[in-house]
Amino acid sequence: MSDKKAILHLEGKQAEFPILEGSVGPSVIDIRSLYAQTGMFTYDPGFTSTGSCESAITYIDGDKGELLYRGYPIDQLAEKSSFMEVCYLLLYGNLPNKQEMDEFNHGVTYHTMVHEQLTNFYKGFRRDAHPMAILVGVAGALSAFYHDSLDINDPEQRRIAGFRMIAKMPTIAAYAYKYSIGQPFIYPRNDLGYVENFLRMCFAVPCEDYKVDPVVVRAMDRIMTLHADHEQNASTSTVRLASSSGANPFAAIATGIACLWGPAHGGANEAALNMLMEIGDVSRIPEYIARAKDKNDPFRLMGFGHRVYKNYDPRAKVMQQTCHEVLDALNLRNDPLLQVAMELEKIALNDEYFVEKKLYPNVDFYSGIILKALGFPTSMFTVLFALSRTVGWISQWSEMIEDPSQRIGRPRQLYTGSLHRDYVPINQR
Ligand code: SDX
Repeated sequence: MSDKKAILHLEGKQAEFPILEGSVGPSVIDIRSLYAQTGMFTYDPGFTSTGSCESAITYIDGDKGELLYRGYPIDQLAEKSSFMEVCYLLLYGNLPNKQEMDEFNHGVTYHTMVHEQLTNFYKGFRRDAHPMAILVGVAGALSAFYHDSLDINDPEQRRIAGFRMIAKMPTIAAYAYKYSIGQPFIYPRNDLGYVENFLRMCFAVPCEDYKVDPVVVRAMDRIMTLHADHEQNASTSTVRLASSSGANPFAAIATGIACLWGPAHGGANEAALNMLMEIGDVSRIPEYIARAKDKNDPFRLMGFGHRVYKNYDPRAKVMQQTCHEVLDALNLRNDPLLQVAMELEKIALNDEYFVEKKLYPNVDFYSGIILKALGFPTSMFTVLFALSRTVGWISQWSEMIEDPSQRIGRPRQLYTGSLHRDYVPINQR
């Protein structure tokens, strides 16, 4: 805690606010007493300059294009770690030793099955339901089945709820995919790792054995690591706000899934691939760049721009490298979408509009091409993002619940509506 203060001079009065310093990054002005001292609120729609909490999980330096999970750079984790090890790191704050890793893997593995009755929910959806619609519904429905892990004030119930959420999301997601293609659900297997299990549940059929391709596993594992957490983004903030009322963890995670679905957020990977397919050929890129710059055209280049990164998203760099590795390994090097993506990136990064507004490719720009090459339909892309981000949501949720200063989130407003007026009966209007 520093002894620095921010002083606000207002209508002849003076208000003082403590300045709090973190381990790195911008300090914050603690304005919790602002209304009491001044009778005024701050105003920050979109929270561009607002810190909603204290956190020790993920740090982003948007100017440098740096992303740290518990202090470890994302590119090192993507190259040297694994998604399960990153889950442990995000949840508990340090890299596990062998015994801790084995125990964690066992704990997750033995929670991957879902209650058999949960599968009845799928039959209520149309076959062409978007898998995200199914994921929102079924994830929220978990709270109807796991009554022994709903009490957020009980650390043991929170621990089990976290394991259940991280372990069951791949099963729920894979079932959503199987349902959409009319194939039978494939049960998880305890002799497979997290990513292998998920790929097998998605792509195996009962009629023959499924051989998991190690290239696909490595790429999927890396993609999940890149998407695991990202500070106080929209869906994580949604989970925190929903949980601040004491809502159970399954319901809170369902709110995060719903928020992530939006094309400005996690839905951008699906939207980015659809955009590349719509552009179709490098010759049409200038037309779309022009549309993205046209204020009267709502079109935006999906996969570009970020609220925090005003430099290259470090995840996009790893994604781009993974994209080339996967397409080479699967002999898809001449994928026309990759050609369009690379040319679009080159043109956009040299276009004055994008340079001036610091619009760089983000994590969603290349992910769609990789996921399509790995065999997933576009409609599953955001599901995969949600599957990866679940550990981030659970880590941030746990941190918030354990924070003694946390209270129910309840923002205020600038009211610009009607002043007091009395009711007028309809026959006098
Ligand atoms: C994710 O927050 C996170 O951490 C999110 C995420 C995570 O891991 O959780 O990183 C995941 O959501 C990545 C972002 C994925 N979304 C997209 O790729 C969709 C396209 N991007 C834009 O919608 C936009 O860039 C946002 C939503 C990502 C950021 O929006 P901001 O910060 O509110 O910025 P803005 O909309 O105010 O844009 C600033 C300017 C505007 O022009 P002006 O009004 O200043 O003239 O840049 C323009 C925008 O019109 N702009 C774009 C653009 N993005 C911003 N113009 C064209 N194409 C774009 N993609």
